[in-house]
Amino acid sequence: MAAMQFRADGSLRHLLTLDGLTRRQLEELLDRAQSHVRPLGQRPSQSRALEGVTVATLFTEPSTRTRVSFELAAQRLGAQVASVEMQLSSRLKGESMLDTVYTLEALHVDCFVLRDAEATVPDLVANAVAAHVSVLSGGAGSYAHPTQGLLDALTIRQRKGKFDGLAVAIVGDVRHSRVARSAWHAFLTLGVRELRIAGPDALLPDADQFAGARRCHSIDDAVQDADVVMMLRIQKERMTQADIPDGAAYFAEWGLNATRLRRARRDAIVMHPQPMNRGVEIDSEVADGPQSAIRDQVRNGVAVRMAVLEAVIAGRDAGKSARAQSA
Ligand code: CP
Repeated sequence: MAAMQFRADGSLRHLLTLDGLTRRQLEELLDRAQSHVRPLGQRPSQSRALEGVTVATLFTEPSTRTRVSFELAAQRLGAQVASVEMQLSSRLKGESMLDTVYTLEALHVDCFVLRDAEATVPDLVANAVAAHVSVLSGGAGSYAHPTQGLLDALTIRQRKGKFDGLAVAIVGDVRHSRVARSAWHAFLTLGVRELRIAGPDALLPDADQFAGARRCHSIDDAVQDADVVMMLRIQKERMTQADIPDGAAYFAEWGLNATRLRRARRDAIVMHPQPMNRGVEIDSEVADGPQSAIRDQVRNGVAVRMAVLEAVIAGRDAGKSARAQSA
């Protein structure tokens, strides 16, 4: 999978997973993203790097942050953006995802950003599009959310200045979490000292998954002396009704509150990919408190998506000019 993400010249063509990206490749994307970060209140980073490029967003699952930040990222780089309302599209008349993609390709779309409940959809589309077209995952089932993994890594690097030596705890519904899977790939590759995963037994991944992570069976154990505590939402949409835990009981056993956070290092940061369920996995006092990096994560989302869009289009254009020169 990771191999198909790169062109023969080594440039990034698609981004479907962080699995297989090297530390250097991740760091290059983080460096590029950092160059686009601006404090709130200043004008956002803008360029014409994607002038003449068309980006389409096709989200069949709900999204606030990923979709809006991909669209803002593309616009701030000068691209045209087609935001396809999948609930109003001809998919409802029976058109297949690939026929929708081929139609948009014929309308000069150069880059598709896809979110789908099916883990395999972004790969399927990446295998089908023309050679000049890129596919970026905006989250696929429980499998991967690569730009979320990058923005989480960028947030940690900004707040901690490094990955080496850090203990990172991911707590909650790890089993169904594409965010946790992309974080796992990114954080271990970038060199965190210890990655801990914790949650009720039913919400922990199978034993053969998350190699290299330490499994904890209580939130107190997971949070103890952690540098980063990342809380996850219960992914109700991936469970049967009977398996969904009661919110109050879950919060009592697994929710992050100020008392539990005191077990972490004094300078620990709290992260959450959002959407948050306050009072279920996290208390508002913590989510909005001084250790929270949650709004930084959102801000970094645009910067990371600008970096990824620039990388795939710059690689494509460089390949085209190299071919023209050698012709
Ligand atoms: N973190 C995240 O993927 O948020 P959205 O579902 O709002 O895009």
